[in-house]
Amino acid sequence: MNQAIIGGTGVYKLFDDKESVTVDTRYGSADVDLVTIDGFRFAFLPRHGRGHSVPPHRINYRANIQALKDLGIRFIYATAAVGSCSERFAPGDVVVLRDFLDFTKGRPSTFFEDGTEVRHVPMGEPYCRKLTEAFEETARDHRLWIKGSAVYVCTEGPRFETAAEIRMYARMGGEVVGMTSVPEVVLAREAGICYASVGIVTNMCTGLSEEEATLRQVQEAMSRNRAAILRACVDTFKRPMTKTCCEVPAAARV
Ligand code: HPA
Repeated sequence: MNQAIIGGTGVYKLFDDKESVTVDTRYGSADVDLVTIDGFRFAFLPRHGRGHSVPPHRINYRANIQALKDLGIRFIYATAAVGSCSERFAPGDVVVLRDFLDFTKGRPSTFFEDGTEVRHVPMGEPYCRKLTEAFEETARDHRLWIKGSAVYVCTEGPRFETAAEIRMYARMGGEVVGMTSVPEVVLAREAGICYASVGIVTNMCTGLSEEEATLRQVQEAMSRNRAAILRACVDTFKRPMTKTCCEVPAAARV
């Protein structure tokens, strides 16, 4: 088993044939389900904990990624609920993430801070291109329409954004907004794990529609898409994958 899905808001309790384990790491513990589908085994990590009890700014991202690393995971697909701040994307659309703007504040966001080694991990391509392309191909086979690739703005949350913030993010090149992809993608890269992320647009961001986003609206929109997305993730896992990318190059060491 070397593949995992990290399920975000609205992506829980989907798998029956599973063994639930708690993995202890030096950063804390993480809940992971070891799932079997059609005889195929992979890890599923509910990002907000079992029962959606941990808010985005309190998630122990380091424990989550370290736990997957310790389980031998080398490929991760993440799902993320996002709001759209671009006219390219509307509620119900499915996107793949291509880059991010980081507006988080106080989150522990690196494995490299205890003085043993200074490293600067490249972020030229944070989301693994090979894994993303493999997902796009499988999605096509499943008739899951991927609307495009998007620049993700990560906010600190747990509050939604103001209208002025959304105008600023859009002007800076942000296209979708969420609260969890950073530092998750960064930590995966630091751990040398290939990481791709699929966003489900659940709402237009603040100020861009009459309706205010609510957690319930986000969860309902997720539930409409999650089965197809997870099926496409699992089928992508079944394709032969060799690890030739996303290792941290020695040149990144200082
Ligand atoms: N903002 C931030 N996070 C989100 C949103 C949003 O509008 N929708 C879903 N997650």
